[in-house]
Amino acid sequence: MERTLIIVKPDGVQRGLVGAILERFERRGLKLVGLKLMRIDRSLAEQHYAEHVGKGFYEGLVAYITAGPVVVGVLEGPDAIEAVRATVGATNPVKAAAGTIRGDFGLAVGRNLVHASDSPASARREVALFFREEELLSYTRSSDPWLLEQAIPPVW
Ligand code: RTP
Ligand code: MG
Repeated sequence: MERTLIIVKPDGVQRGLVGAILERFERRGLKLVGLKLMRIDRSLAEQHYAEHVGKGFYEGLVAYITAGPVVVGVLEGPDAIEAVRATVGATNPVKAAAGTIRGDFGLAVGRNLVHASDSPASARREVALFFREEELLSYTRSSDPWLLEQAIPPVW
């Protein structure tokens, strides 16, 4: 089981797409184990996007992610990192496949609606950057046996 960080970026919040975006993950069966609306300040943006310091798009990226409220979440599931990246789609929404979040809702690489961790190391680092341990909940859902290969309970 893996956990991964997602961020509905400021354009997603401003466009009223928080529900539509979270629905994509929920209906795939990913479990929300953490969720909050928050402001990303410059310091947090610099830590989160440290790998991009010095790139041409860096200043624009920091301005974008700090421009308004974001919704950050932690999703859990088997191979969650890969599953979430596939659900989000390619970085450039024009190149992202139809059926992905970016492919269905976006047109510009600098307004691509959602962030998702790209590796187990990134996921660990990013989850710790945005959530305290006690903000993450472990729980079961009655749907788990129908989503995961767990023993199916008797229904008749
Ligand atoms: P993210 O980190 O936000 O999930 O996106 P990603 O992995 O698909 O893409 P990444 O290479 O990590 O880039 C981070 C964000 O920077 C913006 N970007 N702009 N103008 C450009 O060429 C360019 N390249 C990247 C995007 O907003 C991208 O999500
Ligand atoms: Mg990235």
